[in-house]
Amino acid sequence: MAVRRSDLYLPANSEKFIQKAPTLGADVITLDMEDAVPPAEKAAAREMVKKHIKDMGKYGSEAWVRINAWDTDLTMDDLDAVVIEGLDGITLPKCAGPDEVKRLDFIVTDLEKKRGLPVGKIKLAILIETAIGVMNVDQSVFASDRLVAVIFGAVDYTRDMRVTRTDTAEEQIYARAKIGVAARAAGLVAEDAPFPSYKDDAAFEYNTKTGAQLGFEGRQIIHPSQIAIAERVYTPEPERVEWARKVTKAFEEEGIAKGSASVPVDGQMVDTPVYINAKNVLERAEEIIAKDEMKKSLLAAINQ
Ligand code: COA
Ligand code: MG
Repeated sequence: MAVRRSDLYLPANSEKFIQKAPTLGADVITLDMEDAVPPAEKAAAREMVKKHIKDMGKYGSEAWVRINAWDTDLTMDDLDAVVIEGLDGITLPKCAGPDEVKRLDFIVTDLEKKRGLPVGKIKLAILIETAIGVMNVDQSVFASDRLVAVIFGAVDYTRDMRVTRTDTAEEQIYARAKIGVAARAAGLVAEDAPFPSYKDDAAFEYNTKTGAQLGFEGRQIIHPSQIAIAERVYTPEPERVEWARKVTKAFEEEGIAKGSASVPVDGQMVDTPVYINAKNVLERAEEIIAKDEMKKSLLAAINQ
């Protein structure tokens, strides 16, 4: 599974943010060509992506772009600009259903072939942020082998639902829960929505934790101060890793080796699904350690 605890967004036409982003240590950087870029700046944003995309990954972040949605006239020109060496992935906003994902996969494949790029290397993510998108997400997540993540967009979703977005997110529960389930069913990372109240760390942490319990393993980040909090919340805590070690050892040595698939650990029953859950925690912790070590060693090079 991809490690995408922090997916840092920034307007693709902002030279200042582009210079800063690679040094901030996010798992993923997404240069936004969609809603953070005004109409008159769309062409400039394409040029900025072409110029800077290679640099986004120099300290270990993945380099992504968010293109404009299929219901604009901008999508094909965006793709023409961004399918180049150095791009790790493309996020499709306002994804309404599986046909939109298939169309995107088809065009990216065509451009990769024409440009001599390895076919299938560019990954995809979809943003689910409309009522129709939520309805169809269970099919959209299976629409392309390139998909690695499904992202929830709360600001557009509450706009489409004609309700007020709150930091406590009660109005988002159905959409978030459904996206978490769809992502797991397809083996994708569920990525939570951006949190606009970027000065309220406590509210951000609470919101991130409730999403994590619905299956989200990362989230969109709008401000550097949110990166460390998100990465901490989505990284299994040391106590959880310790629990997982204890459970796997007990299950393998006291259970399976002795003909039983149910053993007691600290007064709790441990059976096969608990064992598998514990193994998943250990695997996830290892993936995260590998990502963090890679970022740390590349970032250390800045100061040399
Ligand atoms: N990416 C990279 N750098 C960023 C950043 C981002 N998303 N957001 C802020 N920074 C940088 C600033 O340039 C500033 O750098 P400096 O200290 O070298 O000058 C530093 O982080 C602190 O920023 P701050 O002054 O606190 O931000 P602000 O109050 O001016 O702006 C936002 C706040 C939310 C408007 C701004 O962070 C932003 O535009 N975020 C991205 C929005 C976006 O992409 N939305 C679309 C997707 S949801
Ligand atoms: Mg949106």
